[in-house]
Amino acid sequence: MAEKSIVVLISGSGSNLQAIIDAIASGQINGRIAAVLSNKADAYGLIRARTAGIPEIIISHKDYDSRESFDAAMIKAIDAYQPDLIVLAGFMRILTADFVRHYRGRMFNIHPSLLPKYKGLHTHQRALEAGDSQHGCTVHFVTEELDGGPLALQAPIDILATDTIESLQQRVHSAEHKIYPLAVEWFCAERLTLSVSGSVQLDGTTLAPEGYQFTQE
Ligand code: GRF
Repeated sequence: MAEKSIVVLISGSGSNLQAIIDAIASGQINGRIAAVLSNKADAYGLIRARTAGIPEIIISHKDYDSRESFDAAMIKAIDAYQPDLIVLAGFMRILTADFVRHYRGRMFNIHPSLLPKYKGLHTHQRALEAGDSQHGCTVHFVTEELDGGPLALQAPIDILATDTIESLQQRVHSAEHKIYPLAVEWFCAERLTLSVSGSVQLDGTTLAPEGYQFTQE
């Protein structure tokens, strides 16, 4: 099977980008990151890309007068690399329906909650305030709904009585670094797909709506 080409979109630290770079280097993922796109020139993730010898694309949303024109510029730059997969890794812009439709079935996002719970921001605080016994993170195929879309993988994490926002965030983040490379691995091996009807398939079997449940050993 041919190696897949991946474009990763970031706005910040890029620790998930790093986890994917490392998983490619170790041979876990049969793919290569063709480019990293950031909407912020000072994103630390760009330094990670540079260190790994990955081409960088910087497109600032501030240079565009509408979401449509910004997204159109991104599509043009991304498609120059003919990617099989788009990975949103802390990309902090809301995408237009046109952009999302263009990459249907080949764009992932990771979100720090057990979706469909806690879409949007401050997820750790919200889980703690609700007195939840579990929190976690989710990789999903991207659709037009913000933090929506069919769920591919989820890592549930027990909330401890002693947890603070920071401690919880830290454990969720390290779970992200496991499930995001795994989702990319499975996609690149053509094991994880989105069907025309919108269900997520792993090895030809439809997953439950909450996606594959990743449990820490
Ligand atoms: C992660 O918490 C992810 O769930 C969210 O943005 C954050 C990105 O972190 N979508 P990093 O830039 O990969 O360190």
